[in-house]
This record gives sequence, structure tokens and C-alpha cells, in this order.
Amino acid sequence: MSLPPGPSTPAPWNLIRWMREPLSVLRECRERYGETFTLHLGALPPMVILSNPEHVREVFASAGDDMHGGKIAHALRPFLGERSVIVLDGAPHRTMRKLVMPPFHGERMHAYGRDMVELTHASIDRWPVGKGFPIHEPLQGITLDVILRTVYGVDDAAERERLGAQLTRLTHLASWPPMLLPQVQRDLGPWSPWGRFVREGQVADASLMAGIARRRREGTEGRTDILSMFVDVRDEEGRGLDDQDLRDQLVTLLVAGHETTATALAWTLRWVLSLPAVRDRLLSELRAAQRTGPLTPERIAKLEYLDATVREGLRLQPVIPLVGRVLQQPMRFAGYDLPAGVALAPSVHLVHQNPSLYENPSRFEPERFLGRQYKAHEWIPFGGGIRKCVGMAFALYEMKMVLATVLSRVWLRTAPGYAPRAVRRSITLTPSQGMPVIVDAVLPRHPVPAAA
Ligand code: HEM
Repeated sequence: MSLPPGPSTPAPWNLIRWMREPLSVLRECRERYGETFTLHLGALPPMVILSNPEHVREVFASAGDDMHGGKIAHALRPFLGERSVIVLDGAPHRTMRKLVMPPFHGERMHAYGRDMVELTHASIDRWPVGKGFPIHEPLQGITLDVILRTVYGVDDAAERERLGAQLTRLTHLASWPPMLLPQVQRDLGPWSPWGRFVREGQVADASLMAGIARRRREGTEGRTDILSMFVDVRDEEGRGLDDQDLRDQLVTLLVAGHETTATALAWTLRWVLSLPAVRDRLLSELRAAQRTGPLTPERIAKLEYLDATVREGLRLQPVIPLVGRVLQQPMRFAGYDLPAGVALAPSVHLVHQNPSLYENPSRFEPERFLGRQYKAHEWIPFGGGIRKCVGMAFALYEMKMVLATVLSRVWLRTAPGYAPRAVRRSITLTPSQGMPVIVDAVLPRHPVPAAA
């Protein structure tokens, strides 16, 4: 048995560096040890990092019995619950995935699109004009509201605000990176970090369970929210999801879908705002679309340059730097005899920085996505194979709705002198200081500003 080479520095040190600057660690190791290397991160299994797209393809082709994706998310169990689709493996994972996938496809997106656009308008109406503010926060507000409305089905704005505040307190406590460590996951009373999290969690859980009970009581007839579909869903044997199943999936979709999408939006905006040519092309595309009819979600979703911009944002600054699968048996892979228990970890960042796939990989160039589709193992911000992000279509759709709405109404620029760094919030990498911006003007809801 042998592992690919990698840093011999102590695992706790590697973990601290990994928590603080994962992208630099990945780049340095790639340069020093080659395309396949091992990272020992203490709390996690040894990670065999992969950056060769062919190796990534092999991992994504696995049916999932020889390598488990749920095991790598073990640290998330206390946050998501034991029955979350993210932490399950094997047959239970396949069953849960089949049950939760259907609402995330096809025509349903257009119905959610209306809420996405509306909630973005409502947020913009509250943005201060002429004064700097970190835009990551309102973007998080939008993506949270979108989940509460489209997934949880909370139609009432006051109720959304109440539940949103509870869940924000909870996700805020959970976003402190050391909370992922088992040593910190101990309830040492109401003032300890984990103790506070546990108590806030009980409050949020009570609200979620009450929402589930209400939906069961009131019925799902005529409802389009995802909770209603989960309440009605049945497997081949006619079994549905019980309250705990529902609670765990609701929390999962919030954790997996809210911060990730807000962060991807912030990074994409960062590039759009700093590159006038990109911004002007987006505005021209929006204006041209408006000349031939109102900007409905269906029409926004088809805008090619907007789509390319969103894909390029996710390529250049992946929100999650790698995905992982823990080997369940010894395996010969990439020329090494790997023991069971190590994780194969396709690196989203390194694959996206591969110059043989992406010319000038460090530049933001949406044009590379025009008229070209990258393969499933070449563009991997949403992972792949049987564990590919359940919310991929939803997230891409939402990013387009939010960006189109913001760009068509708001004259926006990044605060002078701002140079973003990627900082960790739980499992995601966000722009430092929440990305400060200045709004110069907010236009009425419909017209799109002329390109500068
Ligand atoms: C830009 C936004 C997002 C990014 C970058 C992202 C990225 C990812 C990644 C990298 C994975 C792991 C895939 C793998 O292991 O191969 C994942 C899994 C998952 N994501 Fe997303 N995601 C986003 C938005 C969403 C949204 C909006 C939802 C739902 C509302 C969602 C729900 C999930 C779920 C349920 C899983 C677990 C799938 C499984 O284990 O079978 N994500 N996501």
C-alpha cells in the first residue's frame, strides 16, 4: 500500500493552513508534488487530491458502493441530522436522493424564478444609496428568502423574517470553522460555542417541526413549494418521508443551498464589477432582450452571455474547493495501491485552473463558455456522479435571476481600493469583508441602464 507524496508537516498544522487558505495549499502542493498528492488534515481521512480530469472522471463514474461521499461529510451530521441526503451512503443514499431530486428539475424552475426575481427586487429596495456596504449580507438575505419561500413554502413575509432570523443565528454560529471539529462539538453549557448552537438549534427545530405539522394538517393541494412535494413523495413500496426525514432534508437544503449560492453570486459580481467589458456586454444583452418583451424568468434563463458569466464565476472562484469519497476497500488508483479509509478528493479549484482545459485560467473570461460545453469532469463546481449537487439547476437559475435583476436596476461599483481575499465560512470560501460595494443609483423596476 502506498499514498501519493505530500507535505510531511504535522497534520494539525496542515489543518490550520487548510482552514485558513485552502486554495494556496492546493496550488503549492500541485506545484511541488504534481497532479496527485496526499494531504493529512488530522480530523479527516488522508485526502488523495486529484487534479487530472481523467482521474476525476473515474471517481464520478463510481456507483458509490466502493467509495462513500457521505463519510467525508461526517462532521456535518450534528448540523444536518443523521438522515440528511448529504451524510447517507449506499442504498439509503440512493433512496433518499431519488425522493428529493424531482422538485429540482425542468419547468419547475420557472415558477421558482418569479419568487427569485421578486425577492431580489424587495432586497434592492432596501439597499442604501451613496454609501458603502458589504453586499454579501443582502445576497445571503435573498438566497435565504428564496429557500424559505420556494423550499419551505413560507408565503407570509413576517413569518419568513421570524424563521429567517432564527436560522440565520444558527448558521452564523455554525459558520465558525472550528465548529466542524469533534473537539469543539461539546456542550459545555449555554455560553460555550457548541452549547449556544445546540440551544438555538432546538428553537429552530421546533419551528421547522411546527411548519411540517401544519403542512400535513392543511394539505398540499395546489402548492408548488418543495416541502409540499416532499410530504407527498413515495418510493416504489409506497413509503414516504417521516417528520425527522423531512426536518433533516429541510435543514440540508438550507445549509447546502443558501450560503453557497450567495457566495457564488458575490464572487461573480466581484468580477463583473471590475471588468467593464463584461459588464457592458451583460447590459447590452439585457437591453436587447428587453426591446423584444418583458424580462420574464424564462427569458432571463436563456440569456447566453449571462449563463456564460455565471459558469465562469463558478469556475474561477469555486465556492467549495474539493469534493471527497472515502474508499471502502483497497483500490489501485492513479498508479498507487491505496488502502481502504483514504479519501479520493477531486479538486474543483485545480481542475478549473488546468491550462490544458482553460486557456489563461486565472482570467475571468465568460466567452470561453459561449458555444462550448465542458465535460462533466472538466467543469465541476457542483461535484459529480451519483453525488452531484441536487440543487445545481436551481442554483444556476437563481444566480441568473439575481444577477439580471441587480444589473438591470442598480448602478453598483466595488468600494475603492478593495482587494478581496477568500476567507472561510464553514465549508465555503467567501470574499473578505463581505465584499464592500457602493450603490450610485437605483432605477425603477423595469428599464435597463444603457451600457457605459
Ligand atoms: C452555487 C451554489 C452551489 C454550489 C457551488 C454547490 C456545490 C455542491 C457540491 C460541490 C456538492 C458536493 C457534490 C459531490 O460530492 O460530488 C453539493 C452537494 C449538494 N448540494 Fe449543492 N451547491 C450549490 C447550491 C445548492 C442548492 C441551491 C441546493 C438545494 C437547494 C443544494 C443542495 C445540495 C445537496 C442536497 C447536496 C448533496 C448531494 C448528495 O450528497 O447526494 N446545493 N453541492
